[in-house]
Amino acid sequence: MPMKDFIFHNPARLVFGRGKTRDVGELTSAHLGEKVLLVLGRQSAKKNGLSALITNNLAHHGVVAEELWGVAPNPSIQSVREGALTVREKGLTGVLAVGGGSVIDCAKAIAAAAWHDGDPWELFEKKIKPPNVLPIGCVLTLAATGSEANGNSVISNPATEQKLAWYHPDAYPAFSILDPELTFTLPPEQTAYGAVDILSHVYEQFFHDLQGTDIQDGMAITLMRSVIENAPLALARTDDYNARASLMWASTLALNGLIGAGAVGDWTCHMLEHELSAKHGLAHGAGLAVIFPSWMRHVAARKEKRFRLFLERVWDVSTQGVTTEQLGPLAYDTVVQFYRHRLSIGVSMKEYGVDNPRVEDMVNSVLTYRTEANLGGLNRDELKKIFQDVM
Ligand code: NZQ
Ligand code: ZN
Repeated sequence: MPMKDFIFHNPARLVFGRGKTRDVGELTSAHLGEKVLLVLGRQSAKKNGLSALITNNLAHHGVVAEELWGVAPNPSIQSVREGALTVREKGLTGVLAVGGGSVIDCAKAIAAAAWHDGDPWELFEKKIKPPNVLPIGCVLTLAATGSEANGNSVISNPATEQKLAWYHPDAYPAFSILDPELTFTLPPEQTAYGAVDILSHVYEQFFHDLQGTDIQDGMAITLMRSVIENAPLALARTDDYNARASLMWASTLALNGLIGAGAVGDWTCHMLEHELSAKHGLAHGAGLAVIFPSWMRHVAARKEKRFRLFLERVWDVSTQGVTTEQLGPLAYDTVVQFYRHRLSIGVSMKEYGVDNPRVEDMVNSVLTYRTEANLGGLNRDELKKIFQDVM
């Protein structure tokens, strides 16, 4: 099958570079208006002085900001409810996110929920479509999700143990400030999880069975090689600007629609990972480090050509003399070695403190919103095996 037809449209204005955070007031006033909701995580932006810099800069440009602190990783629908209420009560005109994917996703959901009278969770259950989305701006502090340049939002509901994704064409940030220096303060495990997330976004879009995708393949291979080279450099020296800049740009390019144009993946591993986050509280990148290698081991023989390309061109691993059956274990070992030894993170559930995996629950849950056909044709038993193999 040839590559699919596509429309590529990405309205996010990307302002990239050292010190670009200083442009936040001007950009906010131009694109979000003079009264905004400023959405932040739990504490990092306070500790490293970023929130003070932002609020001063906003005030200097005449922007009044109401603050919503405390958005946690795997952001909860509760933060969305709180934020949407404030936006409505105060008549705010836009939402500015300062943080990683969790904060940005929460800001997007707030920007949509502000138009909805009922519970914001209905958005994620796909029960309602918001008539509009308030403009969103973003100051990125973690290279990982690509949320800075796409229309996706992923929110968790602790009451139902669900983590669901939502997309809206108007939820692309109007602007995103990509200042690599802001990522110097990341703890090593967050840098590593971010790298795994970027790689996983490329994997999701790389293992298709289409022909004639040499442009997408070339971009995907370059992105993966860059992350494999630069993540260990950023871990070795946290203020390595070039490594941080490459990771940040890779984060954006991996999930802004470019490499998936004409070659959209099925995103199976992300759906499985959402179960690990929702049921066991794993960080997104940690869950992907656990599930993706297991998936690779399971499916490589069916996608032989792509896996040979992957091993040869991304990891410089020769597949000469490697049989079809040996490809899965070889891909598994290659990726796991990198995660374990170069990124220093765990690749099994036990390493993240999970003793009771609840495999049956996870499989049941994922099959309530995806069919087997929409999970790369994997049946219930295969899904179970992929989960069981990562204990
Ligand atoms: O909460 P604070 O104290 O700010 O600390 C955060 C958090 O603990 C910390 N952090 C962020 N920037 C920092 C920093 N610490 C020091 N210095 C900095 N500069 O990092 C921790 C993790 O932050 P989080 O935002 O949760 O990480 P990430 O960017 O990996 O986002 C993960 C979320 O995004 C979703 C995931 O499912 C998960 O919920 N995703 C969103 C996608 C999208 N919108 O397109 C796609 C992805 O596949 C993913 O599903
Ligand atoms: Zn991801």
